[in-house]
Parts: sequence; C-alpha cells; structure tokens
Amino acid sequence: MAKPKPRMFSGIQPSGELHIGNYLGAVKNWVALQHQYDAFFCIVDLHAITQPFEPEEMPQQIFDLALGLLAAGLDPSKCTIFVQSDVPEHSELAWVFTTVTPLGELKRMTQFKDKSSRQESVLAGILNYPILQAADILLYHAEAVPVGEDQVQHIELTRQIANKWNGRFGEYFPEPQAVVGKVRRVLGLDGQAKMSKSIGNTIGVLESPDEIWEKLRPAITDPQRKRRNDPGNPNVCNLFALHRHFSSEEDIAWADEGCRTAGIGCIECKRRLSENIIEELRPIRERALELQQRPEYVIEVLRSGAERASAVAVDTISEVRRRMGLHSATAPAKSEVE
Ligand code: AMP
Ligand code: TRP
Repeated sequence: MAKPKPRMFSGIQPSGELHIGNYLGAVKNWVALQHQYDAFFCIVDLHAITQPFEPEEMPQQIFDLALGLLAAGLDPSKCTIFVQSDVPEHSELAWVFTTVTPLGELKRMTQFKDKSSRQESVLAGILNYPILQAADILLYHAEAVPVGEDQVQHIELTRQIANKWNGRFGEYFPEPQAVVGKVRRVLGLDGQAKMSKSIGNTIGVLESPDEIWEKLRPAITDPQRKRRNDPGNPNVCNLFALHRHFSSEEDIAWADEGCRTAGIGCIECKRRLSENIIEELRPIRERALELQQRPEYVIEVLRSGAERASAVAVDTISEVRRRMGLHSATAPAKSEVE
C-alpha cells in the first residue's frame, strides 16, 4: 500500500478581500503544495471575530473567501477546504490547550503586542488567538503549516503547546513546522506596513483591471524621485518589489535600469507593473466570475470539506479526552466502593 501523504494545515481569516499579500505569502504555496500533502485549508471565522466585525456580513465574507480560494486554484478533489466553526472540536481543543499554555508566552507574541497596542480595552480573544491556531493545526496532526512570515512565531508556540501537552499526557501530537515560501512579506501600497486588510493598503486578487490601475497609479515610490528626471533607487521602491513578484526577468531589468538612470518615469513603470499583475490574476478572476454563477457548488465544497474535517477532528478529541480522563462517568472500580 502507498505510504499516506503527510498532513498539512493552514488557515485564513474571512475578514475582507483576498489580497495579493495573502496570495503571494500563502495561497499560491497552498495551490502548489496541495498535491504533495493531505492538505486541510480552513476559513478561520472564530479567529476573525477577535477583531470588530458585522454578523450580517460574515456569511458573505466566508463565501467570497471560499470562492477566491477555489478561483486561485485550490482543488477540492485534492485538498479539504472548510469553515472552522463548522467543526466545533477546534474550540474544545483550544480550551484544553489554554490549560498548558504559559500566559507569558502569549503576551510575548508580536501580533498580540501589535493588536493590543491599538485597542483601548484589550479582549482575551486576541491574547488566546494563537492557542486556537495551535488547536487548528494539532487537531489534524499536521506536520507542515504553509504561512507568511508573520505567522512563524505562532507556529513555534504551537510546537511548545504540543510539547507541553505530550509531556503531561503522553506522546500524541507532532511538532509542526512552518513552511514559508519565497515571498515572506508583501508590503502594502503605502510602502510602510505589511499589506493587510485592516490597514486598507491592499490590491485584491479579484479586483478588475481598472481598479488595480487606480490603486497603483497613486502608490508611493522612491521618495527621492520627485521629478521625472531624478534618478531613483529601485531597492527602496515598493513597486519595484512588486515587479519582482509579478514581472518577467526582462521587465524587472527594464524597471531596474530605467529607474536608476531616470530613463523611465514612475508612471511608465507602474503601467507595466499594472499590466503584469492584471495578466497574472486574469485566470483567477475568470474562474471567480464562473464560480459566481454556481454558488451551490461553493457551498457544497464547504459542506463536504467540513464532513471530512469532522471525521478527523472527532477522533482526535476522543483520544484527547481519553488521555485526560475526561469521559462521562464510569463506574468506580469495585474496591473504591467498598
Ligand atoms: P490573514 O489574512 O491574516 O488570515 O493571513 C492569511 C495568510 O496570508 C497567512 O499565512 C499570512 O501569513 C499570509 N499573509 C497575510 N498578509 C501577508 C503579507 N502582507 N505578506 C505575506 N504574507 C501575508
Ligand atoms: N493566524 C493566521 C493568520 O492570521 C490564520 C490561521 C488561523 C492559521 N489558524 C491557522 C494559519 C492555522 C495557519 C495554521 O494569518
């Protein structure tokens, strides 16, 4: 019999449009890796509710994200795509893990420090966020977790949690590794912060050619290049970084040389970039338009995904309960009654 494929798990929050940071940092890898692994991809709505959200908008956000992931190339005959809250075992395992996770480790997380510094009243959800993430991964015994660089720290904590739980209740969970692709971190169009839905500096994977151009046109370039004839430094220009992700070797060399010698203006450079981004995203956008005509297909993918995920999750939780002595009352041994 063929050896079973190793497990892979990753998650993405339904908190806005799928953007090119998600695509380059994570989803493009998921598409490539779905063939090598028994892969689970999860729309993590329970993570998304740790930030302000509108209940009426959540179902649409989940649907749109599922559609975007399918359009980007996840193939439900190769991998399992599902919604986190459809599988309640995620929450149960997260609770169990709160009892082995040191508070100090949670407070040390960069994402927690970042998010809590922006909130007046800090809610426990953003502190416990990585515990739920560890539960997501370990529920499926995943060994590989493809993510952008910002999540590597959470995967390290997942290993610690697995290790602590195993130390107390016996070897059961693997210690998963983050798989970070070539593109570790995509900056937003402001050229300052990581591209992120919460900052609003994104280009959406499903945006139209006009929308993409309208966003690129005013985007920040090398601040030293004030006039057309000023030479620039491509290494400090965020749009040049995007050329590296979306353009051919030839176009990259053209932009590099043209910027240094002021042979081309920023607007020409942006025009070419815009064409290349539009070209790379075109097949994804076309598939998305097709899928929009078949919403019942998208819903069925999520339903059958949840069924597959549940089958694994239920087994894990019953073993966790068994090892922790959390089963419904069993008759005490006879000697104890006497
Ligand atoms: P999120 O949208 O925060 O749920 O992130 C989903 C996935 O996209 C995670 O693996 C992130 O690490 C990755 N990701 C999000 N933003 C970026 C970015 N600006 N650059 C690279 N990867 C990113
Ligand atoms: N925290 C991740 C993010 O913000 C999303 C996520 C939730 C995740 N659970 C996960 C990623 C499990 C990898 C594995 O991007």
